[in-house]
Amino acid sequence: MQHVTVFGGSGFIGRHLVERLTRAGASVRIAARHPLTTAEPPRPARIQYVAANILDDAAVEAAIQGADTVINLVGILSQAHRQTFTAVHEDGAHRVAATARRLGVRQLVHVSALGASRTAPAQADRSKAAGEAAVRAAFPEATIIRPSLVFGPDDHFFNGFATLARRLPALPLIGGGRTRFQPVYVADVVAGFAAILASPANRGTTYEFGGPRVSTFKELLEFVCATVGVQPLLVPVPYWAAELLGGLLQLFPKAPLTRDQVRLLRTDKVVSGSEPTLANIGVEAKALETIVPGYLAVYRRRA
Ligand SMILES: NC(=O)c1ccc[n+]([C@@H]2O[C@H](COP(=O)([O-])OP(=O)(O)OC[C@H]3O[C@@H](n4cnc5c(N)ncnc54)[C@H](OP(=O)(O)O)[C@@H]3O)[C@@H](O)[C@H]2O)c1
Repeated sequence: MQHVTVFGGSGFIGRHLVERLTRAGASVRIAARHPLTTAEPPRPARIQYVAANILDDAAVEAAIQGADTVINLVGILSQAHRQTFTAVHEDGAHRVAATARRLGVRQLVHVSALGASRTAPAQADRSKAAGEAAVRAAFPEATIIRPSLVFGPDDHFFNGFATLARRLPALPLIGGGRTRFQPVYVADVVAGFAAILASPANRGTTYEFGGPRVSTFKELLEFVCATVGVQPLLVPVPYWAAELLGGLLQLFPKAPLTRDQVRLLRTDKVVSGSEPTLANIGVEAKALETIVPGYLAVYRRRA
């Protein structure tokens, strides 16, 4: 039986991945900071939960002990206290990779993001690029996955904007809404993980996971509004103004927008064409139009 430790296994992508891994017969250890709440359904015996912060050497070592495969899904969109982009995306990623190597783990899969670049305007993207390099240095045969925007029934993006579109008379189109995304279905992302784990030939490779179509941020918002049946005003907001607003809002806890999140929108999140994709590992990615309306139906406003 495969023993897999999934750092960040309680998050959006992690929950789908853990379900798929256990269905395939693996024994899975979920490593994240917070204990599961009592509201969570009882978990099958093959799923173990350990409280582990990837900023902590001893916790990372204990979480990896006995695993033959390690997957690191930990990522953040805003910083708080010790939880900085550098600490999580770079140092934490390096800690997981170096510990996995030292403990003799066979396979490491590290999740980065499309847009990761040393020269990106957003610190989140720069730290993801530094994390990739740190992982490669510590564990050269690691497989790195860079997804575009990921959608699925419990996603952050489409559910978040459907809620906002129902509540607000107007939504901002940061930078005019021109940022390009290639949304990819979480079940396809997870199928990609399964294909990678099944074949040693994928080790040392960097994959870019995108869906079948590229859409701008504006097109995605229009799609959400049409699906939900609302027509809020879509108001273009220049980057400089959105950065100013983000800079103010980030002073508050649980800020809805930060300056770095605005900067993330300054670069497209689409596959580059120079790295292998889902198609190269036999996964035919589904279009969002075939999936998203199904789970946004709960937000639909009657005409
Ligand atoms: N969702 C997308 O559209 C998307 C797109 C591109 C790339 N990605 C990347 O894919 C990965 C997973 O994304 P997601 O959407 O599933 O994220 P998510 O839902 O926010 O989940 C993040 C997970 O990381 C854990 N975590 C956060 N800080 C931690 C720490 N210091 N130590 C240990 N665990 C920690 C969280 O649990 P606790 O808070 O309990 O620790 C949670 O399990 C991330 O690396 C993200 O950058 C996602």
